[in-house]
Amino acid sequence: MEDKRLSKALAAAGIASRRACEEIIFSGRVKVNGIVVRIPQTLVDWQRDQISVDEAVIGGEQKKLYFMLNKPPGYLCSNVRPGNKRIVLDLFSDQSERLFTVGRLDRDTTGLLIVTNDGHFANRLIHPSSNITKEYVVKVCQEITGEHLETLSQGARVDDKWVRPVFVQKVRRGTFKICVKEGKKHEVRIIAERAQLKISELTRIRIGNLILGSLPEGEYRPLTAREQESFLSQSDQPRPARQSCSKP
Ligand code: URA
Repeated sequence: MEDKRLSKALAAAGIASRRACEEIIFSGRVKVNGIVVRIPQTLVDWQRDQISVDEAVIGGEQKKLYFMLNKPPGYLCSNVRPGNKRIVLDLFSDQSERLFTVGRLDRDTTGLLIVTNDGHFANRLIHPSSNITKEYVVKVCQEITGEHLETLSQGARVDDKWVRPVFVQKVRRGTFKICVKEGKKHEVRIIAERAQLKISELTRIRIGNLILGSLPEGEYRPLTAREQESFLSQSDQPRPARQSCSKP
């Protein structure tokens, strides 16, 4: 028998990342032995305690699954369905395990998204200290000028923080690449808006060393053992590959 903190136990059971599990606990959705518990540090044991989320009893730790998806536009990164909107997890209807996305892409952003049931893994990747570079290809409605590139590379205020891209490069007339580390909501769109560029398409093509490659839109595949390990020992030097960007 081993006592674990409730938030950690839920993350290991594949409910969500540890941080998201804390929110679920704070909001009163979790019961231990039939009693609502709002303290993530509460010690629990799968053999001794019955733990439920939204009244569904959780079975314990699960086999860990890791996928990369090429997200199509129009799908929300959400574990719950608002109204009858499409969510990314609809694309995993053939999987029986409870999965969730690692971080979020906006509804109309496409490209590389990691989907897992490993809350510790997700937590490590989305934590600000992970320092992982995310690379995007951005199509805009105008011709990109030197002035645009200068403003883009200055970054923008996103929430309470100034986000400065680690790399910006024009690819062709109305397309640029941008690399950011922060992982803040709408960050690329906000940076482009400050440069007065109107985005028509935004696609993530890389997270750390993990490259989207030729995976067709709407499809997913398991991460290889090597790809999973690359996040454990993430040095975050972009591998020389066709889709990765070099440092400025
Ligand atoms: N930045 C954005 O603005 N949107 C995304 O979906 C991802 C990064």
